[in-house]
Parts: sequence; structure tokens; C-alpha cells
Amino acid sequence: MDGNGRWAKKRLLPRKAGHKAGVEALKKVVMACQDKGVQMCTFYAFSTENWKRPQEEIDAIFKLVEQFAETELKKYVDRNCRVMFMGDLSLLPKSTQDALNKIRESGKNNTGMIVNIALNYGGRQEIVNAVNYILQSGISKIDEQMLSDCIYTSGLPDPDIIVRTSGEERISNFMLWQLAYSELLFMDTLWPDMDEKSIDYIISEYSKRNRRFGDLR
Ligand code: FPP
Repeated sequence: MDGNGRWAKKRLLPRKAGHKAGVEALKKVVMACQDKGVQMCTFYAFSTENWKRPQEEIDAIFKLVEQFAETELKKYVDRNCRVMFMGDLSLLPKSTQDALNKIRESGKNNTGMIVNIALNYGGRQEIVNAVNYILQSGISKIDEQMLSDCIYTSGLPDPDIIVRTSGEERISNFMLWQLAYSELLFMDTLWPDMDEKSIDYIISEYSKRNRRFGDLR
């Protein structure tokens, strides 16, 4: 969800206004994904590196996350979505953790689209945590399946496509294990400008790709 700050700067607004607009875009994108039958969508909302930002911005982001949980995420759960979070939530403000845990619990048996939100998430941290978890159980040799079973997305499909907005062309520690065969799409659109048309574009770009998974087909 990159480009909130630049979107605000272009309008001479404070960065937090960009994040607020980012939340409005998120609502449109989730709705469009659900309408188009997307089965799972993960949003990178806060990385392990984002703690380096000014405290005021961090506080504004978590306030938005909390408000989002209490209003929008609740609606998604009512619409049969399973809402989940990946990342180390223990460092988030207690009130945010409580709001997220409540939502996760209430939608855990839902069978519709999975809305996954990455918060205090880092791909390297995820892999290291998984390896440490495996080592603790006394196992000294691991295989790919074992690692896949011990990361946040255990039991869930790897992403078919990873989209980065705002013209940046890098992965920035996102789903490093899961992206092995994901299609990558870099869009110039700033996150707050994402909408239903952007989702149509992503789906049409994806449908042009020929995924071979190392095979010749
Ligand atoms: C990246 O853009 C955006 C973030 C680090 C924060 C995203 C958070 C939200 C949209 C608010 C709440 C989240 C949820 C899930 C409700 P940037 O700030 O790095 O933009 P820039 O690169 O243009 O400065």
C-alpha cells in the first residue's frame, strides 16, 4: 500500500491525511476483490522497518488500523470474510491488539474471501522465526514443507500475483518465502488512487501471464 505520503505531499497535506485516503482506497479494493471472486488478498500495512518513522505518524497509522477493525473489518466478517493478520502483533498498542484479536476470533470459521493484513511484518523475520520454532522442537534438518507449515500463511496458497503501487520496483521484505513463483506487477498508481478499475487492470494483466512453474508449458 505504497504512495500514501506522496499522495498527501502532492496536495500539500500532512502524511497522515495520505494514510486516511489509503484506508478509503483499501475499502474500495477489498470490495472490488470480493465482487470479482478473489479468494485471498494480503495488504502490507506496516513493516518491521516502519518503526523508524516519526512516532506521530506511527500513532496515526495504528489509530486508523483500530478504527478500521471496529468498522470495516467487522463488516467483512459479517459478509463471511475470514480476516487474519500476519506479523508480530505483540509490539502494537494494546488497544489495537485487542481490536484485531476480537475480529480474528469472530471471523475464524468464515468461508469467504480471506483478508490478510500484514502489521509489524517482515519476510526475513517470518523465516527466522519459523526456523527457530522448528529448532526448538529438536529437529535438526528441515525441508520446504516444514518451513511452509511454520510461517504465518501456513495452509494457505502462495500469492498468484504481488502488486506494488507507487512506481517503486522492489519487494521490501514482503512474503519472501511465499513469492517464489508469484507474478510481480509494479504500478505507478499511488495507493490512495487505487480503485475498482485498478483491480480490473491487475486481473487483466495477470490473465496475460504464462505461468510455467519451471515446466515448459
Ligand atoms: C506506505 O506508504 C504506507 C504505510 C507504511 C502505511 C499504510 C497504512 C495505512 C493505509 C493505514 C491503516 C491500515 C489499515 C490496514 C487500515 P508511504 O507512507 O511509505 O508512502 P510514501 O512512500 O509515498 O511516503
